Amino acid sequence: MSTTAENAPAKGFLQKHKKLERNVTLLGIGTFITVAIGGIVEIAPLFWLDNTIEEVEGMRPYTPLELAGRDIYIREGCYVCHSQMIRPFRDEVERYGHYSLAAESVYDHPFQWGSKRTGPDLARVGGRYSDEWHVQHLTDPQSVVPQSVMPQYGFLKESDLNVPDIAGNLTALSRVGVPYSDTDIEQAEADMKAQANPDLDAGDLMERYPKAQIRDYDGDPKRLTEMDALVAYLQMLGTLVDFEAAAPVEELALDPAEIVDADAAPAPAQPQEAGE
Ligand code: HEC
Repeated sequence: MSTTAENAPAKGFLQKHKKLERNVTLLGIGTFITVAIGGIVEIAPLFWLDNTIEEVEGMRPYTPLELAGRDIYIREGCYVCHSQMIRPFRDEVERYGHYSLAAESVYDHPFQWGSKRTGPDLARVGGRYSDEWHVQHLTDPQSVVPQSVMPQYGFLKESDLNVPDIAGNLTALSRVGVPYSDTDIEQAEADMKAQANPDLDAGDLMERYPKAQIRDYDGDPKRLTEMDALVAYLQMLGTLVDFEAAAPVEELALDPAEIVDADAAPAPAQPQEAGE
């Protein structure tokens, strides 16, 4: 430090900096200003959140049954091992599907992005497997994937789905901005039962919740279990937004068929791929 003191232009600056470093109050003020700038950059955009998050077609609030399943997902700590956030990288998009959009989490309180992937991302797991597969996998993951470290959740199939006040849950979410209608809230209990039992009258459930899937999920039509709710939730993940309709963003995940087409063109294209 003392050697740089000989250097004339640096000296002036360092002298000033010394003042700052030796005066606690001044250093405190300087630190505050620096941190405040960083804070404003992060916080200010949130005031214009409505403009920040682009709306996408197809998003709707969770049905009461899906919501109950989501609560079980949180209760059982599935988020500890599973993310629901596909990043816009080629490897992720090819493995899991279209990268996640902010608008897809807009009705999530709290969001389930997760922070660790001991297991795969689940943001688009809906429709990828059959209900039977999910029930079998949740009951005994190792019977489907022998090397799996996922715990067994067979007890969910034995536990009746017991949500003391599903209408209250919807009301609470509507207070923080989820657009549940009065009918949705009044019908919540009936909707929850009807979605897992095709024999019941679902009323206008499908109109109020487009793309809702009505069926018995756990293989036991006589009972409404926690397994029904959890599988209903898993089977809807990532199914609401139609990405075929929003084509341009698809560029990231090049279809292998398209690459073959390019090679078949008369001009020799991409010689570096010829060796493959
Ligand atoms: C200890 C970490 C751990 C926990 C907790 C956990 N999982 Fe998993 N999960 C895994 C691993 C590892 C895999 C990959 C192997 C397999 O398929 O079993 C996996 C796979 C899955 C798959 C298949 C995904 C795919 O695309 O193949 C689903 C669905 C799933 N888990 C759901 C759940 C649910 C629901 C819960 C909570 C009830 C849960 N997991 C809790 C580790 C975990």
